Amino acid sequence: MNSEDIIEREKRYEAVFSKKPLPIVDGDGVYVYDADGNEYIDMGASYGVMGVGHANPKVVEAVEEQARSFTYAQASYATPERGALMEALMDATPDSLDRLFLANAGTEANEAAMKFARASTDEDSTKIVAAKRGFHGRTYGSISATWKSKYREPFAPTVPEFDFAAYNDVESLKETVDDETALVLLEPIQGEAGIYPAEPEYLETARDLCDDHGAYLVFDEIQAGMGRTGEMWSHEQYDVTPDAITTAKSLGGGLPISAIVCTEEMTDIPKGSHGGTYCGNPVAVAAARAAVEYTVENDLPANAARQGERLVSGVEEIDTDRIVDVRGEGLMVGIQVRGRAGRYLSGLAREGVLGLTAGTNVIRFLPPLTLEDGHVDAVVDALAEVFDP
Ligand SMILES: Cc1ncc(COP(=O)(O)O)c(C=O)c1O
Repeated sequence: MNSEDIIEREKRYEAVFSKKPLPIVDGDGVYVYDADGNEYIDMGASYGVMGVGHANPKVVEAVEEQARSFTYAQASYATPERGALMEALMDATPDSLDRLFLANAGTEANEAAMKFARASTDEDSTKIVAAKRGFHGRTYGSISATWKSKYREPFAPTVPEFDFAAYNDVESLKETVDDETALVLLEPIQGEAGIYPAEPEYLETARDLCDDHGAYLVFDEIQAGMGRTGEMWSHEQYDVTPDAITTAKSLGGGLPISAIVCTEEMTDIPKGSHGGTYCGNPVAVAAARAAVEYTVENDLPANAARQGERLVSGVEEIDTDRIVDVRGEGLMVGIQVRGRAGRYLSGLAREGVLGLTAGTNVIRFLPPLTLEDGHVDAVVDALAEVFDP
């Protein structure tokens, strides 16, 4: 089947997703391939999922081994791989976080954060505070914590008692968090919004306010975590320890898995009140253990920091007035352009580079963290070509 036929077949039945103009039929490290044999540097990594690269050998081996042994055991049966993942995650997260819950998607980890916080605070603490421009997923709790109306309005009414503070606005945060707040949920670097890192003072104030009002502070590390920003977790470049982090995307090396890692205090939930059939399913768990270990053993955060700097300085040198700003941390990079970002993506694809947009006017790169100098140079050359007037 050629690329066009593959796309047309899906389009005929797909209920939700529009289809990009190329199918993916193979992947290897930082590269993906379409059905016509074209090779692309995958600077989107399918929305930041493939941190350890496509078909990472360690992940493939772990998945094969687990699938040959047994593919499923519900989380109330302990398995060797699940325990190994728990230890690996505990080693890789702040010491004060000593409990975890495994789920399947980012939004489920955030739902757990919201439910844990509500159940573990007093009954008057019913409010959840999130940030304007923030994104936390597409289930009802998560869309209620998500700012953009396009994700909420078609499904209104959403869950009550959510409130929004302006991002990086300390005064707005102070006005919003009060004694009725159970949870403050923040991205330390906003992704979907267009790649906006938090000011240290903003996160420090959030910590103080949560302590003062008996609320929990949770950092959504679903897009920014697992080494992407140059640290294992994006909040580590700040002097603030949350009560929990949520992680997904690169956690699973391409398989669906997510986690909330939190303090014991935050897990004061009645037995049997939370769970899910596929939570901690063995095959995704094996992939995640391999992905976490690969990230740590190969110091992918350090590579992300180095290649991110190389990418940003390369882009800054492009001689064009169509680039308004380049920002980000590590390999979470946004290039703000004049006009709509989407129109540059097809030009980039023609040059063999796949990217994403964020908001309307930002080209977003969330590539595999295994990116090397030559790949970055090729991406900068492709951008220079696309921005050439
Ligand atoms: C910051 C953030 N939180 C939550 C989510 C939701 O994750 P998922 O799509 O796996 O439910 C995303 C996904 O893009 C995200 O970027």
